[in-house]
Amino acid sequence: MDEVRIARLERGDARGRFEECARIHAEVIPGGFLVRLGRRFLSALYRHLAGSRHAFLIAALRREEVVGFIVGCEDTRRLYREFLLRNPFPVACAMAGLVFSPSAWKRVYETWRYPSQKLEVELPGNEILNFCVATKCQGKGVGGILFDALCEEFQQREVKEVRIVTGCEQESAHRFYEAKGALLAGEITVHSGAVSRVYVHRLAGGE
Ligand SMILES: CC(C)(COP(=O)(O)OP(=O)(O)OC[C@H]1O[C@@H](n2cnc3c(N)ncnc32)[C@H](O)[C@@H]1OP(=O)(O)O)[C@@H](O)C(=O)NCCC(=O)NCCS
Repeated sequence: MDEVRIARLERGDARGRFEECARIHAEVIPGGFLVRLGRRFLSALYRHLAGSRHAFLIAALRREEVVGFIVGCEDTRRLYREFLLRNPFPVACAMAGLVFSPSAWKRVYETWRYPSQKLEVELPGNEILNFCVATKCQGKGVGGILFDALCEEFQQREVKEVRIVTGCEQESAHRFYEAKGALLAGEITVHSGAVSRVYVHRLAGGE
């Protein structure tokens, strides 16, 4: 595979970069709720994440094409609020498409409520919000490079532990996180009927 370079995306980057993130998201998590809100919504979301003071977006580029990305977040609830306030148009368009779908509204509410869910053990506030590698590039070390870059960024911010929530069916992700040394902290139900695993990854230097 051609060489992969890591780049921190910024809000002012070409829109095409965020559209590529949205395309990869839809490709590797096709059943996810956010995909139902449309590509335009997803692109706006990734553009916001790149510029937010609560998050950062690191992309893997091969021949200047995005082939994977990872998102770190320091405060998910604040990030959601900030996104809603600063992106009224894409949010309104996505919501308009859900007007006749009560189940979709329920999922919006569940997603909004998710950051306040608790387990018996105290969970770190910092988390991996999303992590995707294009199907054609999986299993070649791209995810590993992205994950290491995310850990480095969190360490620079003096973060000691990171929370990772991943769907029970996302087996490639479970294997990946366990190989990286993340510990299973428990399970939560983000959307009714869909259990998610919660991992905690302790960063080098963290007690
Ligand atoms: C989880 C995910 C991001 C990992 O990305 P990836 O690029 O495939 O990760 P890597 O290639 O670094 O590692 C994956 C596997 O390839 C192996 N590998 C890494 N480099 C390799 C190489 N050069 N040659 C062969 N195998 C290699 C790793 O050992 C690992 O093996 P394992 O699955 O048996 O443990 C990717 O599978 C994905 O996008 N999954 C779908 C979305 C998802 O579930 N996201 C998580 C949401 S929280």
